[in-house]
Amino acid sequence: MVKEKIIVTSALPYANGNIHLGHLSGAYLPADIYVRYKRFNGDDIIYICGSDEHGVPITISADKEKVSPQVIIDRYHEANKKAFERFGMSFDNYSRTSLPIHHETAKEFFLNFYNRGLFVERKSLQFFDEKANMFLPDRYVEGTCPRCGNEEARSDECENCGSLYDPSELLNPKSKITGATPTLKETSHYYFPLGKYQPALEKYVDEMNKKYGWKDNVLQYCRGWFKDGLKERAITRDLDWGIKVPVDGAEGKVIYVWFEAVLGYISSTKELSQIKNDPDLWKRYWLDPDTKYIAFIGKDNVVFHTLIFPAILMAWNEGGKEQYCLPQNVPANEFLNFEGKKFSKSRNWGIDVDEFLNLFPADLLRYALGANLPETRDTDFYWKEFQMRNNSELADILGNFINRTFTFVFKHFDGKVPALGKLEKIDEDMLKEISEYPKRIADLFEKYKIRDGVNEIMNLAREGNKYFNDTEPWKTVKSDKERCGTTLNICLQTIYTLAELFYPVLPFSMEKLFKMLNSKPVDWKESGKPQLAEGHKLNAAEILFPKIEDEKIEAQINKLPKSEIEAGKNDLISYDDFMKTQLRVAEIIEAEKVPKSDKLLKLKVKLENEERQIIAGIAKHYKPEELINKKVVIVANLQPAKLMGLESKGMILAVENADGTLQVLNVSESVKNGTRVK
Ligand code: 2FM
Ligand code: ZN
Repeated sequence: MVKEKIIVTSALPYANGNIHLGHLSGAYLPADIYVRYKRFNGDDIIYICGSDEHGVPITISADKEKVSPQVIIDRYHEANKKAFERFGMSFDNYSRTSLPIHHETAKEFFLNFYNRGLFVERKSLQFFDEKANMFLPDRYVEGTCPRCGNEEARSDECENCGSLYDPSELLNPKSKITGATPTLKETSHYYFPLGKYQPALEKYVDEMNKKYGWKDNVLQYCRGWFKDGLKERAITRDLDWGIKVPVDGAEGKVIYVWFEAVLGYISSTKELSQIKNDPDLWKRYWLDPDTKYIAFIGKDNVVFHTLIFPAILMAWNEGGKEQYCLPQNVPANEFLNFEGKKFSKSRNWGIDVDEFLNLFPADLLRYALGANLPETRDTDFYWKEFQMRNNSELADILGNFINRTFTFVFKHFDGKVPALGKLEKIDEDMLKEISEYPKRIADLFEKYKIRDGVNEIMNLAREGNKYFNDTEPWKTVKSDKERCGTTLNICLQTIYTLAELFYPVLPFSMEKLFKMLNSKPVDWKESGKPQLAEGHKLNAAEILFPKIEDEKIEAQINKLPKSEIEAGKNDLISYDDFMKTQLRVAEIIEAEKVPKSDKLLKLKVKLENEERQIIAGIAKHYKPEELINKKVVIVANLQPAKLMGLESKGMILAVENADGTLQVLNVSESVKNGTRVK
C-alpha cells in the first residue's frame, strides 16, 4: 500500500466569537474524523488550522466594547483553541493570523505579485459612511441584489443567488453600522486579475472533479461563477486593522482579509515547522505537487477555496519559484441549524461548544453531529434527537452489545477471551461481515461521506446484537459451553472491530474500550480480522454511554429564549393578514431575456383592465417563448421594485422542486384574467 502525503485544513474561524455546534458540523468534525481515520490508516498527514484574526467584524466588536482588536482576538483565540481541544479536535497546529510568521508570508505573496506587475491599481467608488467616517467594508453594506432582488445582499456579493457584482450596482444601499445611506467615494486599490485565471481555473476544477469527484453543491457554485465570468478583485482595503500593504503610498490600507487568511494555512504549517524544529517540514507538504490537499469548509467559503486560493497559488507557481500544491478536493458542507432556526448570537439561539461540553461528554456530541452532518442539505440539531441518538443508539445498541458480552465473559469465562471452536454458518457469516466493514467504511470516508460512514459503523453494532440474540449464549452456556465460548469470541472480535472503526469518531470512549479490551488499535488496513487471541485477559467493563434523563434535556429546552419561541408562534399569520396579499390570475403576453442577466426574464402580463411589467428570476428554467399565453398567479399588490434598472410590479408564484428547478403555477385557460385567488 502506498502511503499518501496529505494536508488537511479546516477553515480558520474568526477570533470574534465562540465556536458553536454549527461550526463543528460544517468544517471541523468531518475533517477530524477523516484525519483520524487517515492517520490510523498509516498515511502521512498533517492537519492544519488556526484563528482568522483580521477582518472588519473584529474591529467592530472591539469598537463596541471599547477595547483594542488585540483584546478581542486574544480572548476568542484562547477560548476557541480550548473548546476545540475539549471536543477532541486533533489539529497538528492551531495558529493565529496575527503572528509575525503569517504577516511575513502574506507580504511575501503580495510583494511577489506586486513586483511581477500582476496587480492593477485602480481608482474606484466605494461606499463611505459619513456618520462613522469610514469606508464601509462589503459586509457592512446591505441592499437589494441587482440580479435576483434579494433584499439582504452584501455590497458586492449575494448569498441568495451567489452573484458577484460591482458595489455601484447594489440597489438601495444601507450602512449596517449606522443605518445611514452611504455615499460612494473615490479610493484606490490593488486588484488581483482573477479573470485572467478563469481558463486555468475551469480546467483545474474540471480535472479535479474528473479524478477525485467533487461534491455537486461545490461544482454548481463554481460553474455559476464561471458562467457569470470571473472579474478582477480588489485585494486591499481602507482599514487600520490587518496586514499593512507593504508598498509606499499605501498608508492606511491593509491586505484584504480573504487574500491573506487562506495563506494562513501555509503560515500555520510554517509555525508547525518551528515548533517541531524541522525547518523544511512545511515545504515537504506544500511544495510537493503530489501532496493530496483537502480543504474542509462550510458552504459560505466555497469561492475562496475553489477559485481565489487556487488562483493565488497558480499565480505564485507561474512566478517559477516554488510550486505549491492546489486543493485536490473541497468537501464543503451545508449548514446546521439549531431547533429549526439559524444559529444566532444576538438572538441567543444556539449553544456554544464549551457550554455544551460542561453538560455532556464530547463523544456524545461527536456522534450526534457526525450521524447528522449537513453534507448534502442543511440539517438541524434538536435536543430531543440528541437524547435519542445517545439513549437509543450509543447506549442501547453499541453500549448494550459491549456490556452484555463483557458481562457474560466475566461471569462464565473468567474475563478471558474464550476459544474459537467449530464454526457454524451463522459464525462464518458474522466473521465475513466483520471483515467487510472496514473497507466499506473506508470507501465512504475516502469520498468524504462521513455521515454515511458514521451511521454504517453503528450498523455493525446492530449486527453484533442480532448475532448475540440469535446464538443465545444464555442457553448454550448451560447446554454447550464450548459453543457458547465460540459465539462470545466472535462477539469480542466484533467489539474490537467496532472500537477500531469508531476510533476516529468517538476517540475518548474508544480509548476506554481499548483499555477494557486490554489492547490497542493496530492499523485500519488490518482491521476486521480477529485480533484477540484465545485466553487474552480483558479488563473490567465500565458503562461507556449512560442514558440521558428526560429532565436534563427538558432543562435545556426550557432554557431556549422564550421570545424566540413566541416569535416562532408569531410566524403564524391571521386570516386578515393573509387577505392583505392580493393573488390574481394574469396572462403572460410578452417575455424576453433581460440583457446581461442569465436569471431574469422581462415579462408583460395582462390582468383584467391592466398590463404590467414583472421581472422574474426564472430565466434558467423557462425559455421566453414557453411562457407566452400561460395563465399564472401573481402577487398583485407587492411594492414595485427595480431589478437591473427595470421596474417590476408584482411577483409570479412558482414552486421550487427538490432539485432547485422552478415551476410557475399554472391556472386553467378558462379562468378570466385578473380573477382573485383566495
Ligand atoms: O468564514 C470564516 O469564518 C473565515 N474566517 C474562514 C476563513 S478560511 C481561510 F481562508 F482561512
Ligand atoms: Zn442575488
